[in-house]
Amino acid sequence: MPIRIEDTFEDVLMKAATGLGMGKQALADASALTHDEVDTLLSGTFDEAALRKVAPVLNLATNALIDMAQQTWRPNVVEIPGLKCFNTPHPVTGYLEMTVNSYLAWHPKQKEAVVFDTGANAAALLQYIQEKKLSLKALFLTHTHPDHVAAYDAITQASKDLRTYTPEREPFAGAKAVRPGDHFELPGLSIVSRLTNGHTTGGTSYLIHGLEQPVAIVGDALFCLSQGGTKTEAAYQQALESNRNELLNRADHTILCPGHGPCTTVGEEKRRNPFYPEFKKSR
Ligand SMILES: [Fe+2]
Repeated sequence: MPIRIEDTFEDVLMKAATGLGMGKQALADASALTHDEVDTLLSGTFDEAALRKVAPVLNLATNALIDMAQQTWRPNVVEIPGLKCFNTPHPVTGYLEMTVNSYLAWHPKQKEAVVFDTGANAAALLQYIQEKKLSLKALFLTHTHPDHVAAYDAITQASKDLRTYTPEREPFAGAKAVRPGDHFELPGLSIVSRLTNGHTTGGTSYLIHGLEQPVAIVGDALFCLSQGGTKTEAAYQQALESNRNELLNRADHTILCPGHGPCTTVGEEKRRNPFYPEFKKSR
């Protein structure tokens, strides 16, 4: 079953409003709506006229947000040799449908593989590695939120000679620090890290070269049609800037592999992600 798109249009509105430090009343005042109209939108009731007023106040792409609310599009399922997504349920109180992704990458003609984040549970990942007779060499963390490291022990205990890496700004017991721009090589693949912080202080993406298409494992920096939440206004601006400078500047056919929701591409996110109006032909 395809992985469902992580965020709804109201999630995007909420993340942008929080990121800009705007409460409901401020949003109502700036968009010439009543408090109740804003409340209704934020609770997920689609009202195109109201959405058209609110989107520009939040610097969101209006038409992209309307498409998102109408659920007119979903991304093609990404299947390229040497890249496998494991989508595992991670129920959190209040978010019972929540799932988290981990990714396995290897050159299709080679046996050495690396994993990015652990998922909530590593059973399917470890079974796949065994079936394909792959040898797991490294585990890279995009950030250390609990849902992304939940199966750390299960993976490290099952794999001999495994090196583990975490962003230098997010130390994790037993893992070596990764700095922005660090390179890693394995037969047929090269990996380079990029700082894509904002959602967390050390959030790191990993660019993979050597597969059919360039791939970026992005953690919660960017989602299909959305992005990870931020706690402060500075962190929100940082997240927007990191994504512009480190991810959305890549070639359009670059596959983006997020920690939640389906994979997407740079081209699709430039066209459709409401947080980035500057790439849209019509806003
Ligand atoms: Fe996260």
